[in-house]
Amino acid sequence: MTVKINENYLLLESNYIFIEINQRVEKYQKENPDAEIIRMGIGDVTRPLPKAVTNKFTEAVNEMGKADTFHGYGPEQGYDFLIETIIKGDYEPRGIKLSNEEVFVSDGAKCDTGNIQEIFDLENIVAVTDPVYPVYVDSNVMAGRTGPMEEGGRYQNLVYIPCTEDNDFIPELPKTPVDLIYLCYPNNPTGTALTKEQLSVWVNYAKKNNSIILFDAAYEAYIREDNIPHSIYEIEGAREVAIEFRSFSKNAGFTGTRCAYTVVPKEVMGYDNEGHPHSLNSLWNRRQTTKFNGVSYPVQVAASAVYSPEGQKEINESVDYYMKNASIIRESLRALGLSIYGGINSPYIWIKTPGDMDSWQFFDLLLNEAHVVGTPGIGFGPSGEGYLRLTAFNTLKNTKEAMDRISNLSI
Ligand code: MLT
Repeated sequence: MTVKINENYLLLESNYIFIEINQRVEKYQKENPDAEIIRMGIGDVTRPLPKAVTNKFTEAVNEMGKADTFHGYGPEQGYDFLIETIIKGDYEPRGIKLSNEEVFVSDGAKCDTGNIQEIFDLENIVAVTDPVYPVYVDSNVMAGRTGPMEEGGRYQNLVYIPCTEDNDFIPELPKTPVDLIYLCYPNNPTGTALTKEQLSVWVNYAKKNNSIILFDAAYEAYIREDNIPHSIYEIEGAREVAIEFRSFSKNAGFTGTRCAYTVVPKEVMGYDNEGHPHSLNSLWNRRQTTKFNGVSYPVQVAASAVYSPEGQKEINESVDYYMKNASIIRESLRALGLSIYGGINSPYIWIKTPGDMDSWQFFDLLLNEAHVVGTPGIGFGPSGEGYLRLTAFNTLKNTKEAMDRISNLSI
């Protein structure tokens, strides 16, 4: 007898994009130990947790050390004190009503967007925008929903919706029917956003076609323009067709602390083989209570401090700080004559590679000549070829230094 593996894993690219980049950068650093590399590749924040957060975090850790305030297992869905704060802070001000049972606290939007596909049948047709955050694709590959990758870098059974300069990065409705649609806005990686009208097109499509939208709003805090929705539930009818993913990583610096949440309204339904409706809220609740032990008590206390007046002030300062970096990147690269997208409602800047360079060639040029690390657009899907992503998450000093170095290249 031999143990058989899940062969779907063999259909994946050999490395997750950010692992591949790290390996290349480490190799370069080994060969060039004096190079001062500035990392603007992975979207990881650099500013520390707000004081308001660390104060509460510390208090909660101390509570864990005393018998009368110790917490053992908490509710898998999250503590009500955090859920109520989320609803009051993120949804009520936008006129969105949610009940506590519709919010599921978790340790990350990556995990939730990767895990959510488990509650859906393998026969469902999945649509992704292209380029796309690779987790949506890879988690469906692992599950066996996509078939093999074909020439051109597309998985056989996935529907790709190209978002490029040609359509102003606005996804067009699919020409063939789809069941599950992943949308990430503000978008990772292109940094572009959808207006209320543009997002309404998708909600209406989903209602008409009985599809479900998996809406990743991890970069919501970076929205600056008025007509950009912060939540998909600002769009009429979205409660019936959309699941929303949010995170404390990018607004409050929780990438190393881990806290996020997913909203599954009770109206969103999936159907069994006999055509009977089932609430996805119950299925997700069943999945989480079986496979997830909840986020630790101190981390949930820390996350709730994000909504305190001091917490809000501090996170706004951090977001402003990163957005200043974004505008420096935009302006510097524009001045070089490059075509630049994003960076207005998002910490990501999406750059058209100069000349005939492909994504990896431009990546190599920036690494070798400027010691700046970006993410090659091709790592996000075939329509990312010919682009490269920079993040605004570095320090102001490093961002300026990186832009000076790139400005001195002959491109
Ligand atoms: C990215 O660089 O795309 C981010 O790290 C995504 C993430 O938060 O996982």
